Amino acid sequence: MKRANLFLLIALICVSGSLYAQNRTVIKVATDNVNLIYQVGENGRLYQSYLGQKLRYDADIANLPLGKEAYLTHGMEDYFEPAIRVLHNDGNPSLLLKYVSHTQDATKPNVTETVITLKDDKYPVTVKLFFTAFAKENIIKQHTEISHQEKKPVTLYNYASSLLHLNAGKYFLTDFTGEWAHEVNMAEHELDFGKRMVDTKLGSRANMQASPFFMVALNDKAQENAGDVLLGTINWTGNFRFTFEVDQLNQLRIHSGINPYGSEYSLQPNEVFLTPEFVFTYSTEGTGKASRDFHRWALAYQLKDGDKPRMTLLNNWEATYFDFDEEKLIGIMDEAVNLGVDMFLLDDGWFANKYPRSSDRQGLGDWQETVGKLPNGLGRLVKEATAKGIKFGVWIEPEMVNPKSELYENHKDWVIHLPNRDEYYFRNQMVLDLSNPKVQDYVFGVVDDLMTKYPGIAYFKWDCNSPITNIYSPYLKDKQSHLYIEHVRGLYNVLERVKAKYPDLPMMLCSGGGGRSDYKALEYFTEFWPSDNTDGVERIFIQWGYSHFFPSKAMAAHVTSWGKQPVKFRTDVASMCKLGFDIRIHEMTEPEQQYCKGVVKNFKRLQPVILEGDLYRLVSPYQTDHASQMYVSEAKDKAVLYAFDIHPRYSEITQPVRLQGLDPEAQYTIEEINLIPGTRPMRFSGKTYSGDYLMKVGLPLLSSRHLTSHVFEINKVK
Ligand code: DGJ
Repeated sequence: MKRANLFLLIALICVSGSLYAQNRTVIKVATDNVNLIYQVGENGRLYQSYLGQKLRYDADIANLPLGKEAYLTHGMEDYFEPAIRVLHNDGNPSLLLKYVSHTQDATKPNVTETVITLKDDKYPVTVKLFFTAFAKENIIKQHTEISHQEKKPVTLYNYASSLLHLNAGKYFLTDFTGEWAHEVNMAEHELDFGKRMVDTKLGSRANMQASPFFMVALNDKAQENAGDVLLGTINWTGNFRFTFEVDQLNQLRIHSGINPYGSEYSLQPNEVFLTPEFVFTYSTEGTGKASRDFHRWALAYQLKDGDKPRMTLLNNWEATYFDFDEEKLIGIMDEAVNLGVDMFLLDDGWFANKYPRSSDRQGLGDWQETVGKLPNGLGRLVKEATAKGIKFGVWIEPEMVNPKSELYENHKDWVIHLPNRDEYYFRNQMVLDLSNPKVQDYVFGVVDDLMTKYPGIAYFKWDCNSPITNIYSPYLKDKQSHLYIEHVRGLYNVLERVKAKYPDLPMMLCSGGGGRSDYKALEYFTEFWPSDNTDGVERIFIQWGYSHFFPSKAMAAHVTSWGKQPVKFRTDVASMCKLGFDIRIHEMTEPEQQYCKGVVKNFKRLQPVILEGDLYRLVSPYQTDHASQMYVSEAKDKAVLYAFDIHPRYSEITQPVRLQGLDPEAQYTIEEINLIPGTRPMRFSGKTYSGDYLMKVGLPLLSSRHLTSHVFEINKVK
């Protein structure tokens, strides 16, 4: 081989990341800390040989066992859950995938894309496995493309986005399940032989009972700062399914993807079936590190406007429900101005005339202002807000319809409903058929018409209160099993159009509380509404749960009247995420009002640390009667620390809380902020400590008093 060619070969190997161990083709998907390694066996099939902490030496790959088949098929020699199951049009139900080729490219700094192509050697079916590795953040995204060139359609029964194999002595699964106003309850389960599934079949409002994310700790229960743990989530705003299956050798497989339930997919020749992305990280330093990696990745790559600041706001939902008119709203705007927030957000109840939206029983779908309530339309409100120096945002729920509405009367064919049965309703409403392009136009038009008429609208809260009921699409006719999938695709078409036409329009993703909280939707939304439950204590748990995957910037948190805790407690809790209020401010006492204004000011000043800093969860409300967490700037020169006493036992003896994430060499001043006027800060407020002391000895942040809270600003001494 000529010298130049040899160089070329070596260069190609380096660029592509391909390696050859014992003459096997090796494909290494790598981040700074994680390796996912595949090898091609002598039989031409693809195997996952390794998933875990990055291997220091490539030469060691030759010592790895071949491992487990990477993307297991149905009908061959494996008897557990397959990643893919198809029915060919000659009636053959089997698939056997062989490695064909792979590519690996650094698409941008820090990001490498790997594509592995597999093919059946008897049937013209192609499966491509995609991996995107984010080096610094240790995040790997995976998805699959399935296509074929058979003469007639092939039916897909299973089509996982990802199959990962793990091997450990024990596995502990944490899921995040719940209900309306009771979202993301963390529960840890040891896995043993057999299958455990986390899934939903709700169609829309898809996360109402189970969230599309999980953690699997290896060998020991998940810990905050130690141990191996995998955190994964699926980028899909519809039915999802995670299957955790432990086999007879105690090996674990994790299948992630769209829930195939009720969703056999008839794949046309040459059509490409694209599965949603599964996103995961693997940490050897516990869940804290994994969450921080997720947050950094989300802010840099996934969350809409992850690099932009957020607006504080005053919302009127809990303050008025449906009972408002123009004057009342303008009065609330004055409260927003007085409070110092950036925006007034008008919630549900402002639209429909034939069936005015005076309750949740009617009007949904008719997006004209109710003349009786708003005789001068939204235009007057936008004008008033602008004159007062604040922004104006508005609530919509464009994917839904009340049967008592003009939309339903005129376009019954746009509504998902069974042709020959009585209708049943969830929150008195039904779901529009987003598989129908005309319906997509209509839903896009709800936003577009409002923006065209009132370009001053600065924000949307986009709600979705019902799962799909009466499951039948008048549009899809004989392809009913495509409905769950086409519905979500239709939603994305609409959101794409909204984003393309209004790229700078921030929007809140809301779904009857936290019924939608997935990273695909967050490509289009700047934040989500974690729960209608805004009780301070409940929110500590809810925000704690979501914080395992989402940065505080992605979570809207409003102060309301839920819960009996002091205003300070509720507000300090909300100020850990994207702060808002949903309460009549003038009903608070004068010191409480002053305090709230101070919190808004502090929040605006500290927003870069609170919403973009590294999160350290210090004291878990799940394990104690307290909670504490802190955010630290990337430069480690600023931090904000929170401490809460929830319901401790009488005279409980508490220990100092050790801080984390600081520079041990640096000196820091601690100052308590967010104080009710006239109250004294904690004794150590105003003092200076080394980072070393704060992290080894800690601060006496906790007490045995009930429902108390403290917030501290920490600054590095220059
Ligand atoms: C459910 C949301 O979660 C609430 O915040 C509120 O917007 C209502 N819908 C309005 O109907």
